[in-house]
Amino acid sequence: MLKNKKIVIGISGSIAAYKIPFLIRLLKKEGADIQVMMTPSATDFITPLTLSTLSDKPVIIDPFNPDTGEWNSHVDLGLWADLYLMAPLSANSMGKMAHGVADNFFLTAYLSAKCPVMYAPAMDRDMYLHPATQENIKMLQSYGNILIHPTEGELASGLCGEGRMEEPEGILNIIKSFFLSRSDFKGKTVLISAGPSYEAIDPVRFIGNHSSGKMGYSIAEEFAQRGARVILVSGPTNLDIRHPEIEKIGVFSAGEMFEHCMDIFPQCDIAVMTAAVADYTPEQVHERKIKKKDDHISLALRATRDILEAMGKAKKKEQFLVGFALETDNELAHAKSKLQKKNLDLIVMNSLNDPGAGFQHDTNQVTIIDRNANVYEYPQKSKREVAKDVLDKIKEALDK
Ligand code: CTP
Repeated sequence: MLKNKKIVIGISGSIAAYKIPFLIRLLKKEGADIQVMMTPSATDFITPLTLSTLSDKPVIIDPFNPDTGEWNSHVDLGLWADLYLMAPLSANSMGKMAHGVADNFFLTAYLSAKCPVMYAPAMDRDMYLHPATQENIKMLQSYGNILIHPTEGELASGLCGEGRMEEPEGILNIIKSFFLSRSDFKGKTVLISAGPSYEAIDPVRFIGNHSSGKMGYSIAEEFAQRGARVILVSGPTNLDIRHPEIEKIGVFSAGEMFEHCMDIFPQCDIAVMTAAVADYTPEQVHERKIKKKDDHISLALRATRDILEAMGKAKKKEQFLVGFALETDNELAHAKSKLQKKNLDLIVMNSLNDPGAGFQHDTNQVTIIDRNANVYEYPQKSKREVAKDVLDKIKEALDK
């Protein structure tokens, strides 16, 4: 079941490190490819020799390997892996991960991860219950990392309570069901629009908007991680996306986005339109820079074509269409009317009145509405978490 799955196991300084050799045996039996990395203090609890023997690979501890003279690339490791498992995760390393500290290989590799990250805290009960630890656990979750809850039981300190790392068999089951759910869009081709559109006024200026593209890119990554082939049509953004199943097509204007999306849509099973597309574009694009002359200047604008609406008209029965609606007033009513007008299967609404929702933020707060006017409200979450919720709702609707 885990055949050829590439798993990085990051071990930090906790006595629960003694359980990891058993976990490696179980994962290898399932066909997984394992790369172990350790913090320097983890080597006090278990030897790299044991771990490299079981995993069939040298263990990485330092960025620089003095024996071979080679540099261990944390970036390459982040690109290689299908999953990072930070287990056991000590209170110290967890605090550093939560705050972006990068003073060893283990931490730089964590910051470079392009794949999902699971973390299994392991520590003494009182350390675990400290508000700082609890805050760090929440912070890591808010970045989209997956918590493997510690269990209750006897601890190495002699105390009894919460803080014990999940047993190897339990972790194996969590990893297996994770990969099972991660392939729930296998065989599907998905079109995603993202970012703003830039409507040229002259060779220097344009009409744009504040969209960062983060929501659309998070959805693209989530689909790819869950097995889909993704075509991402993106307006100009500062974002980078690297996944073998994601093909990115960069565009500038609403017109270009329309042409590409309509071209691609017939071969897609699902389309999710997150782009903030200009509704109007300058009637005329000046060939030369407009020079400053008068006190007033008028720009004539004409309406652009609505991509989502055109897709709603062209949509076949088996295709699934999702729109986004960013509203400032009368939010629910506007979103519901867009769902009807554009013949959508789902609409994801966010309001600029909610703090931490909408443009530029790393978080979003959404309400999802389906064709039967069911309304699902979600609390504020990271955009990666929101992407998961959107995909789960799509899956639920497709399975009905
Ligand atoms: N959309 C699109 N093409 C356009 C305009 C909008 O594909 N030319 C899509 C957006 O990507 C989004 C949805 O339509 O998924 C709603 O966009 P929004 O700007 O909120 O709605 P409009 O229909 O443009 O209505 P208004 O601007 O009046 O709120």
